[in-house]
Amino acid sequence: MLSDNLKILLASTQAFAIKSQNFHWNVEGSDFPQYHEFFDTLYGDVSGTIDRIAEYIRILGHYTPGSLSRYAELSIIQDQTKIPRAELMFAEALHDCEELSQLVVTMFHEAANENQQGISNFMAELQDLYGKKAWFIRSILKKERE
Ligand SMILES: [Fe+2]
Repeated sequence: MLSDNLKILLASTQAFAIKSQNFHWNVEGSDFPQYHEFFDTLYGDVSGTIDRIAEYIRILGHYTPGSLSRYAELSIIQDQTKIPRAELMFAEALHDCEELSQLVVTMFHEAANENQQGISNFMAELQDLYGKKAWFIRSILKKERE
């Protein structure tokens, strides 16, 4: 059901926003300023989508989950309680972007089938967002040519 998937997307986005901010605060390495900045922008862009997802759940006539324990139950994004090395932070964030991208592609079709064109458009925007973030992260992770 579209509203159930919106709840999963909301919880997963909250989880990814928290993780991005964790990485923004705790990343270390010789490129620290860029890494710190990258995760700050990621946090801002990801958290910037939360309210719109939540309001679509209300528009569809359902109540929006709003507690940490519900988010933990619903999220497809693995929580990170440790402080990984920078490279592992990026690898994990890339994996999360790919998971979110897959979810919003499924939801794009689901929304279109239910004639929810606004939600469908929004899912297309989110696919662009996570596709672009994945490109940035893949480029950061790529070893420089000799
Ligand atoms: Fe900051």
